[in-house]
Amino acid sequence: MDLTIETLQNLRQDYRSAALSEAEVEKDPIAQFAKWFTDALTAQLFEPNVMTLATADKTGRPSARIVLLKGFDEHGFTFYTNFNSYKGHDLEDNPRAALVFFWPALERQVRIEGTVTKAADEVADRYFHSRPTGSQIGAIASPQSSVLPNREVLENKVVELNEQYLNKEIPRPAHWGGYIVNPTNIEFWQGRSSRLHDRINFQLIDGQWAITRLAP
Ligand SMILES: Cc1cc2nc3c(=O)[nH]c(=O)nc-3n(C[C@H](O)[C@H](O)[C@H](O)COP(=O)(O)O)c2cc1C
Repeated sequence: MDLTIETLQNLRQDYRSAALSEAEVEKDPIAQFAKWFTDALTAQLFEPNVMTLATADKTGRPSARIVLLKGFDEHGFTFYTNFNSYKGHDLEDNPRAALVFFWPALERQVRIEGTVTKAADEVADRYFHSRPTGSQIGAIASPQSSVLPNREVLENKVVELNEQYLNKEIPRPAHWGGYIVNPTNIEFWQGRSSRLHDRINFQLIDGQWAITRLAP
């Protein structure tokens, strides 16, 4: 296929499958998120818990990457990572983040913004030990976001750690754990025809969720 500017500019979809109204939306955004996440599971989407995580360093320089949602409740949205990674350093200096889910098959986007805290050690331990052995070893072996001289260095480290922890419990490294994005804003976007999409926004004001409709 020829890639021309026209090919790119003519890429468009019209969204027609659903709507979201003030009347039907849950009054609590976590309940609304649970509803949409259940729809994503029911639709058997590929990796429905994939989300973009945006952070910014102390100078305001933003960066974004994909991480996996591993839990959510009224306290926030949890993901796990290496605290020494770029995102870990950003969150140390500037504990605020934005998350974005896009579920194309459902024509839905969810945007979450909030403040970030670390998950409790017991919670991180429980999740760490629920992971396959290879993932536990990988978390110890990989100095995430550091420059590696080559791939062999990483693979050799994995071999060494596999021998070290053969038939032993692998301790969760102190530099690996969970972050919780405690939401102050959650927006639910449902694609509609001719770009007249529905956007229902929840903003936390004095401990109460204020619901508004935003222009698409
Ligand atoms: C589908 C997918 C899932 C990912 N899940 C995670 C995750 O849960 N935690 C994580 O630290 N990195 C995850 N990554 C890797 C990150 O996108 C990123 O490369 C890594 O965390 C380093 O980011 P940083 O240098 O900005 O800190 C995932 C990547 C993809 C494509």
